[in-house]
Amino acid sequence: MKKVLQIVFLIVIVLSCSTMEQPRNNSQKISSLKTNETEQKISALLAQMTLKEKAGQMLNIGLPAILEGGYWDAKERAVFSQEKFKKLLIDYAVGSIHNTPGYPAEREDWYQIVKKIQDSAMQKTRLGIPVLYGIDNIHGANYVNGSVMFPHQIGIAATWNTELSKKNAEITSYESRAASLPWNFNPNADVAMSPLWGRIGESFGEDPYLVSEMTAAYIQGSQQKGLQDSTSTAVCIKHYIGYGAGRNGKDRANALIPENSLRQYFLPPFEKAIKNGAMGVMISSNAVNGIPCHINKYYITDILKGELGFKGVVISDFSDIDYLISAHQSAKNKREATKMAVNAGLDLLMNPFDADVVDYIVDLVEKGEISIARIDDAVTRVLRLKFYLNLFEVPYNNPKDYPDFASEAHTEANYQTASEAITLLKNNENMLPLAKNKKVLVTGYTANSINILNGAWSRSFLGRETKFNDPSKLTILDAIKKQVGSTNVEFVEGTDYLDDINSEEAVSKAKNADYIIVCVGEIPASEKPSDINELELPKVQQELVNKLSKSGKPIILVMVQGRPRIIREIEPLVDAIVMAYLPGDEGGRAISDVLYGNTNPSGKLPYTYPKYSGNHLTYYHKKTDIRDADWGYNGFYPQFEFGFGLSYTTFEYSNLTISTDTLVGSEELKIAVDVKNTGTHEGKEVAQVYLKDLVATVSPDSKKLVRFSKINLKVGEQKTIYFSLTSEDLKSIGLDNRWIIEEGEFEVQVGGSPKELLKKIFYYK
Ligand code: BGC
Repeated sequence: MKKVLQIVFLIVIVLSCSTMEQPRNNSQKISSLKTNETEQKISALLAQMTLKEKAGQMLNIGLPAILEGGYWDAKERAVFSQEKFKKLLIDYAVGSIHNTPGYPAEREDWYQIVKKIQDSAMQKTRLGIPVLYGIDNIHGANYVNGSVMFPHQIGIAATWNTELSKKNAEITSYESRAASLPWNFNPNADVAMSPLWGRIGESFGEDPYLVSEMTAAYIQGSQQKGLQDSTSTAVCIKHYIGYGAGRNGKDRANALIPENSLRQYFLPPFEKAIKNGAMGVMISSNAVNGIPCHINKYYITDILKGELGFKGVVISDFSDIDYLISAHQSAKNKREATKMAVNAGLDLLMNPFDADVVDYIVDLVEKGEISIARIDDAVTRVLRLKFYLNLFEVPYNNPKDYPDFASEAHTEANYQTASEAITLLKNNENMLPLAKNKKVLVTGYTANSINILNGAWSRSFLGRETKFNDPSKLTILDAIKKQVGSTNVEFVEGTDYLDDINSEEAVSKAKNADYIIVCVGEIPASEKPSDINELELPKVQQELVNKLSKSGKPIILVMVQGRPRIIREIEPLVDAIVMAYLPGDEGGRAISDVLYGNTNPSGKLPYTYPKYSGNHLTYYHKKTDIRDADWGYNGFYPQFEFGFGLSYTTFEYSNLTISTDTLVGSEELKIAVDVKNTGTHEGKEVAQVYLKDLVATVSPDSKKLVRFSKINLKVGEQKTIYFSLTSEDLKSIGLDNRWIIEEGEFEVQVGGSPKELLKKIFYYK
């Protein structure tokens, strides 16, 4: 048999050599050869595996489960427990590990940890299969001490610059691999529909197209040199699916998503990610329509692995086999929960504390309750990712081979991302930029904290430990002082997150100031700790603005937060509003540079900023949703619209043209528009293209984003921007839950501000 294969192999090589004049085809053939070779290696390995070894490959434990001390204990060093190590790593031959050792490890620590794990797995287990290490390096390699920490995803989305998403991923990968971490539980491809949802800051926002584009760019950055390259990390896109749409806005809540919405809004980012080479998908902890995602065979096996053709690893979220029992109440015990999840299509179970699921899998297969074919499919996928990542050859990486770790260039890319994210939401009478020689009072909960700029997942899970901060990084206050000199800056804390500290002192100091910069926002949080009951900005922080407004001094409101917290009552009291999202380690610098005009802001909102908690809609909605109490259609009145963001300059759009008034079949629609910088500053502008289906049987959305482009324009400069749409862009989900286009009129809307879009109608047939 081996001989036959060798002959086939040679024939294929000869054939591919004869087409050398076509390099593209040739390289395609070589890559499919490699793929076949890998598949053969997997089959050969699988054939040697016992059932228990197979089940072991399906287990992902948390690193603390093999360390001395309790799982959740804070630790200063990683000390392996001989007993736990032997049991889980050698006897069970665990396939995958995730999580941190319980402290922010240096690259060298990570190297020692991963080396010990891999050397043992490869030398002391029967088959010598390396372990697949996964980690949540979600805004930079945040679990590797000293790495750059980027803005969270919502900030990246606000840049509307896919190159920055790509760059961020490239650097995150490099710095992760410097710590021997090859698999990243990122990016987050959730479409965040509820502003209450605490992880909206970890997402690319509410729009499926923006989420898809940013996710795809991130994947390109992570994996651009191929997974075999030791600067690439494999992505694990999450959370499949509907996590950002919990009915009550809470973490891990039930979402009600009918089939047509699933396909129209939630699936496209995952589909695009898979087309771009994603080899990991994490299942979401929530239920959709009451069915926990982890047992939804239709979603996992039929749609993800079937329709979308996903060939990678489907991993559960943290401890979610237990969650099927304790929270979802869908399974009566762990054996049953394991059976439901594996039969639904789970390949790797993130079962942090123990190997009990391995025993259940063995028993379930032996009793015929899970087929061996299902197990082989799961193990094949896990091994495939290990081969793709070249872990059998290079199981860990030497930190010395990564001289650019936290380099100046990486820090600069981080700063640029934070800068381009900043979104100017209000600027009455050009209050900003501020003059540097004026006296300023800086106050508020978020003014002097690195932790708040970084949010959760920053060296520790909730990111609240000040001892892990890099002392060279600047808070907003530090950066302002550096910019204008300490003598002109007065600082009073004012408030904590929920409590007053010394707001009266702030009021009294306001008398001597020319301007007041009030920095408000959210406490670092994720998952359950990020759940809130009230979307309004905490009262005490609003009250500070209220009191300061009595001084009559101009107020600049700076917001550091993942969510759009409601500010309806204080908005009229302030002259300028700067939204910084969760801008990361360079956020202080970036904010101060915007305030003082070194940077012209160019971010645009990646979500709709609600004005009232009882009036929240995404920008795409049905006309019926916006009927008002007078039976009119003025019921959509957000504080700020999706896609909105001001600049220190002005841009004028003109001459919108489309290539035809009647688009037929699969023809392309070419769009051109002129954009001119008509103001006094050089600046970047995001041109947005929306499409509106004027009549459709399934009630059409108000509009949908279909293209965007970020350009730079000098003062007085004009550029023509071109876009092209195809019939694919016109499609929406029809009555039978499939993508269709109905003949009729569509409207193209183009511009940089949601209220000032140029429009053209064409007919599709
Ligand atoms: C989170 C995931 C994360 C996983 C592993 C879960 O609790 O929901 O986003 O990837 O933990 O840390």
